[in-house]
Amino acid sequence: MSASATTSRGNWNSKLGFVLAAAGSAVGLGNIWRFPTEAASNGGGAFLLIYLICCFLIGFPVMMAEISIGRKTGKNPVGAFKALSSNKIYPLIGMWGVLCGIFILSFYTVVAGWTFSYVFEEVFFAAGMIDWASWVADTSNGWLNAIFSIAFMCCTISIIRGGVSDGIEKATKTLMPLLFGILFLLIIYVVMQPGSSEGLAVYLQPDFSKIDMPLIFAAMGQAFFSLSLGMGALITYGSYLSRDENVPQAAALVTFTDTMVAFLAGLLIIPAMYLAQANGIAIFENGEFIAGTDLIFQVLPSLFHGIGGVLGAIVGITFFVLLSMAALTSTISLLEVPVSYAIDEHQIPRKKAALFVGGGILLISLIISFDTSLIGTLDFIFSQVGLPLGGILICLFLGYAWKTEKAFDELERGNPNFRQTMIGKTWRVFVMVICPLVILYNLLSNFW
Ligand code: PFF
Repeated sequence: MSASATTSRGNWNSKLGFVLAAAGSAVGLGNIWRFPTEAASNGGGAFLLIYLICCFLIGFPVMMAEISIGRKTGKNPVGAFKALSSNKIYPLIGMWGVLCGIFILSFYTVVAGWTFSYVFEEVFFAAGMIDWASWVADTSNGWLNAIFSIAFMCCTISIIRGGVSDGIEKATKTLMPLLFGILFLLIIYVVMQPGSSEGLAVYLQPDFSKIDMPLIFAAMGQAFFSLSLGMGALITYGSYLSRDENVPQAAALVTFTDTMVAFLAGLLIIPAMYLAQANGIAIFENGEFIAGTDLIFQVLPSLFHGIGGVLGAIVGITFFVLLSMAALTSTISLLEVPVSYAIDEHQIPRKKAALFVGGGILLISLIISFDTSLIGTLDFIFSQVGLPLGGILICLFLGYAWKTEKAFDELERGNPNFRQTMIGKTWRVFVMVICPLVILYNLLSNFW
């Protein structure tokens, strides 16, 4: 694949542009909505520990595999497998990724729409125009869900129409640092509240007796979802990365940033759940956490309303705006996977592809808007099972069809002697043996 061919599809303007865009894809509702809920309902600290191990020992090697395949070929996930092998079976791995992208985006758009709707909730609440309880009840209203899903999908499509550096890169550069800032401030506030220590203890003190196969399964699925792995999003983003960038370093930065945001979100939300309980919000049912999709949408506003006054309103509005933006940088990466496939493999112009693919996915989102119980089912099939499955296939392809030696040539472009480094030496074993076996064992044991 020549560098000029890569350039004609669009390119990141800088390495920081790639890292921020990939981190923007990784950091999203997965960190702030899905991680704390999963952690709370799976034993808190025990989940955190296994999650960190999954991210660094399994996710990080898979991330390097995806970026190297993307950068080498300069193609979408289907085209990338075609370019690296003449065997017709392998592009199916990319097709699976495109399918996962379509269905994950369909429910992600609905939850992102909820997030966006809470910007308005905070504004109306501050203006004394609504009774909060009725707003919470209204978010299970299909029409409202549909309106906010449409709004969110329109934003996603318009950025994807703008292309790589103008659309995706610009959007992420300013938003990520802002999100970090507000998370820090909120954590300080929550930790200073009397009553937060119970939540902190649940989150930070691992109870090893809670570690079992369902917990490991949940942590692994969460790690793949949060790091945007297993469906070719990072093959696609890697395809726009210039040839001499340091892939291992970029992958390490993305993994670290994403894990950090998830960790911070847990530090904010789990203690906040206990504070919310003191304000009369039910967080337990029969001694178990209520792990519903809407828990966070009750816990967070209750926190902001607790701050009260103008400050509470400002913090609440800013938080939901930033969370919507974090979700947007993830939805654009989810949409970019099928769109880049349509552009490369079916020669559809970018603007048209964005409109038709995004519009088609929106139709599924509209169905979900009226039956939100579908979120759990789709999440299970395409995130919990689909992404780790994609991860196994990508590792096996790289290790046994494309071969790690060729991947090393790619990885050493911006990082000479990577083979000799500690990470380089162990990466081969992880990609060829450890990651596929651990993920497979995990998936199978869950089904048995
Ligand atoms: N990583 C995103 C999040 O944590 O919200 C979700 C996601 C984006 C998953 C892109 C998969 C993907 F390809």
